[in-house]
Amino acid sequence: MTTRSDLETAWDSVVCEARKARSSRIIDLFDDTDRVEQFSISALGMLFDYSKTHIDVAARDSLLNLARAARVESIRDAMFSGARINCSEDRAVLHTALRNLSGAPVMVDDVDVMPRILETLERMKDFASDVRAGCFTGQGGMITDVVNIGIGGSDLGPAMATRALSPFHDGPCCHFVSNVDSADLADVLGGLDPATTLVIIASKTFTTIETMTNAASILKWMSVHVADPAAQCVALSSATDRVAEFGIPPERVFGFEDWVGGRYSVWGPIGLSLMIAIGPEEFTEFLAGGEAMDVHFRAAPLAENLPVLLALVGLWHHQGMGFPTRAVLPYEHRLNRLPAYLQQLEMESNGKRVGQDGQPLPHGSGPIVWGEPGTNGQHAFFQLLHQGTEIVPCEFMIGAKGHEPDLAHHHRLLVANCLAQSEALMKGRSLSEACEIAASMGYSGDMLMAQAEHRVFEGNRPSTTLAYPCLTPRVLGQIVALYEHRVFVEGVILGLNSFDQWGVELGKELAKRLEPLLAGEAPSDDVNQSTLRLATFLRAPE
Ligand code: F6P
Repeated sequence: MTTRSDLETAWDSVVCEARKARSSRIIDLFDDTDRVEQFSISALGMLFDYSKTHIDVAARDSLLNLARAARVESIRDAMFSGARINCSEDRAVLHTALRNLSGAPVMVDDVDVMPRILETLERMKDFASDVRAGCFTGQGGMITDVVNIGIGGSDLGPAMATRALSPFHDGPCCHFVSNVDSADLADVLGGLDPATTLVIIASKTFTTIETMTNAASILKWMSVHVADPAAQCVALSSATDRVAEFGIPPERVFGFEDWVGGRYSVWGPIGLSLMIAIGPEEFTEFLAGGEAMDVHFRAAPLAENLPVLLALVGLWHHQGMGFPTRAVLPYEHRLNRLPAYLQQLEMESNGKRVGQDGQPLPHGSGPIVWGEPGTNGQHAFFQLLHQGTEIVPCEFMIGAKGHEPDLAHHHRLLVANCLAQSEALMKGRSLSEACEIAASMGYSGDMLMAQAEHRVFEGNRPSTTLAYPCLTPRVLGQIVALYEHRVFVEGVILGLNSFDQWGVELGKELAKRLEPLLAGEAPSDDVNQSTLRLATFLRAPE
């Protein structure tokens, strides 16, 4: 059994290795000719290279030791077996059951949850096939457009994946409305025919104000043009009892259990829009990719385990080296919603102040995650990545192949740029090299030095690269599950509960109390003067 002091000793050793690493240069670690082999792993057809970091053998040993001391493997097994590891909500954590295509029993409170999950999956497939084949129609004929109304996990997962897999679309066009800002709804509805539009109301709780407001407004929009708006409506929720007020019949309600967290829900009913867009077969491929990552995560030794290594590299950079943020940089334009998706996955899961025991976290919480696809980011914020005084560990992602064989030269350029960035971040450019450049530009004397200084890149900036064959539904499933498990491992090691999200509640409560003020009601005494002044201005701009 691991004691708290084993864990603290393991942390101390990571911090100590990181202190040493701060004075080392990544490029020098490549003097060891085996480095690339030793600090990269291949699994499920993907290659994860973390050799361009400061991690050496001693550092990795300390990180693996930390994972052992934190009991990552036993807590992982507890999660898969249906234990109530979400302690603050007293719930199991079983989004993995949604992609358990093997159907092997998964027990929650002595009941196998798989028959129900597989039955719902079959119902989703039947419905999606009917929509795609024109067997389920709108009041004006075949469904041409689908609008998913949801927010957070009820939007980001299906929106990200639907965008990522656009080469596989052969169903109706899918749109996503999340923001309570009427602009979102208006811009989507602008081009749609209400008589051939299917509305999906996606909300785990069916109480989220944005989704309920958007749902009511879209049904009103439909009611002007069709006799029975609810007949073109589907609900996806764990609160199936609350769906009734929308008049949606049970055959078009797809339920899931409360042990599927919102940000982990794309694998089940919340993925219906994706399934309609790409078809049940490709959706099953997506699930199969997730399932394959689960099998790998459960079976691979820690040192060869993709999610574990990704998590350890993350902890090394944030907790060890002290870098407060990390950039996710997919060199895959269709993954342009992935950074937003990962922001929810990582920051809603691991952005906590206390541990499982309710005490302040001894080593802080997860990092700030941000990003943008390459090469666009290169022409925006990469300046800071290369020469800014903050160091941002970069996580590159790149596919060997694109989906446009006629434009293969674009893809070559994309790959070259991705590789060039990680190389440049690591190698940098010395003052003497910069001086040569300045001299070749005709500068001399003091001007040469001044000009050269602007062209120096310190280098020694860490990055990892995840390379995969091609962005197919299966590969996307692998990537999403990889990141889910990475977040889980980081959360276990930090000692926090990755599966609640109390931090979003306060703002929601205050918004509810402020709305009447904006409608002209008298403010309550506890409204802050600044807020009051802003509210007054926003009601009637001066
Ligand atoms: O406010 C945060 C949150 O609860 C997320 O965790 C969730 O994904 C999102 O809101 C939407 O919730 P729901 O699916 O219940 O509408």
